[in-house]
Amino acid sequence: MIEIKNITKIYNKEGAEVRALDDYSLSIEKGEFVAIQGASGCGKTTLLLSIGGLLSPDKGSVVINGNAVYDMPVEERTVFRAKTMGFVFQQYHLIPYLNVLENIRVPALAAQGEVPEERLEMLIKTLGLKERINHTPAELSAGEKQRTALARALLFEPDILLADEITGNLDEKNVEIVMNCLFEYQKAGGTIVLVSHDTALCKRADRIEELTVK
Ligand SMILES: Nc1ncnc2c1ncn2[C@@H]1O[C@H](COP(=O)(O)OP(=O)(O)OP(=O)(O)O)[C@@H](O)[C@H]1O
Ligand SMILES: [Mg+2]
Repeated sequence: MIEIKNITKIYNKEGAEVRALDDYSLSIEKGEFVAIQGASGCGKTTLLLSIGGLLSPDKGSVVINGNAVYDMPVEERTVFRAKTMGFVFQQYHLIPYLNVLENIRVPALAAQGEVPEERLEMLIKTLGLKERINHTPAELSAGEKQRTALARALLFEPDILLADEITGNLDEKNVEIVMNCLFEYQKAGGTIVLVSHDTALCKRADRIEELTVK
């Protein structure tokens, strides 16, 4: 389902090169829950953004469901991403002037059609956001923002969930709530790529892939 072949990503900052990914390959089957583990700065977010069609690698290819993501024109890639993938960003990227409910509904704007209202309600309830639906991101705790971002990513039951340090700001109880939500999504046929530096969390995935600092 996900075929990453020999991708290299080099950032250039004021003449200095940072080799974030170096000839990296990974293959993920449909329905798998894969954890990408590695130290801070080893390229986890870079890898996830590359899978998600948001950051073009300098070399190599990303093929999802048989589609070479970076061979598509940008608009086609945007629609493909919206239909195929849900993304939970490390920095959440919630829209600051929308409340929780509106933020979760945002993917509907990316041409995905009508909001599945029952599923929306279920996610809000499961992720413990019911009392916060009218709050804007500035009026939320970090963990609440993280759970809002997860609800948004799962709203349309994407084929693939890309989750970046999804439990970084959660207490034990909320880690369990989020992990149960991920397992339910997987049971329903979803594929998960989770990146984290938390070993205990990664051990709960089907498979761990190590990334190392170059
Ligand atoms: N836009 C950028 N320009 C220059 N360097 C960058 C840029 N983005 C990331 N980097 C560098 O690339 C490397 C990989 O960054 P990345 O964000 O992928 O790491 P990470 O594994 O997700 O780290 P963390 O666990 O801290 O989130 C880091 O050394 C970082 O400083
Ligand atoms: Mg990161």
